[in-house]
Amino acid sequence: MFSFFNSRKYSSDLSFLGADMHSHLLPGIDDGLQKMEDTIFFVKQLHDLGYSKLICTPHILSGVHPNSPETILPVLASVKERLKNLEIPVSIEAAAEYMIDHEFEQAVSRGDKLLTFGDNYILIEMSYMAASPYLHKVIFELKLAGLQPILAHPERYSYYHSQFQQYQELKDRGCLFQINLLSLSGYYGKQVKNIAKKLLKNKMVEFVGTDMHHQNHLHTVQQFAKDKKLYKLLENAPLLNNTLL
Ligand SMILES: [Fe+2]
Repeated sequence: MFSFFNSRKYSSDLSFLGADMHSHLLPGIDDGLQKMEDTIFFVKQLHDLGYSKLICTPHILSGVHPNSPETILPVLASVKERLKNLEIPVSIEAAAEYMIDHEFEQAVSRGDKLLTFGDNYILIEMSYMAASPYLHKVIFELKLAGLQPILAHPERYSYYHSQFQQYQELKDRGCLFQINLLSLSGYYGKQVKNIAKKLLKNKMVEFVGTDMHHQNHLHTVQQFAKDKKLYKLLENAPLLNNTLL
């Protein structure tokens, strides 16, 4: 069968994804980029790779990255202004990457205003050390509030690697999954790569993201975008990235 993927040239063209929905590009508010000049440089580089929309998702983690709409949206506005002045044709938005901890669970229970993107999507993450005891409750409450949770990089939670049924349970509870391009490249090691591939093979992945924090990430994504393996891996995945455009 003739397909886009068979006919395409493997030359750094991620435009089939269209939108990246996980990145730390907004300057100076989390552990991602720190300077406006770097933000502009990274946005240009990602645009050159084929992205036309970048949804920035600064961490919200109480005590470490105490972000909120009040800290995030003004920074977004200044980045947008700079991009407009420089006539860089990329659409840029912001939401957040919410750590599922006690504070977040309380915020969801209270019905606090949360930062979402696309079709009421909300990006959530867990610690790399242990699963959050609030995970199932939060998924339930978010869905009850009409929000659609997307779990960031499930392949990086090593405590689930030997319990693949945990991933299935989260899917059964209605959680969407976002894997990192960096995981597929092998950046975090073989085990993470294999789990990411297994999730793709089982059609359990709705989004891929860059989770871009710094220069090493950018360099790795740029190199991987030249590798035909990336396109083969994503060939039959029912991804929703380009529905965000
Ligand atoms: Fe992230």
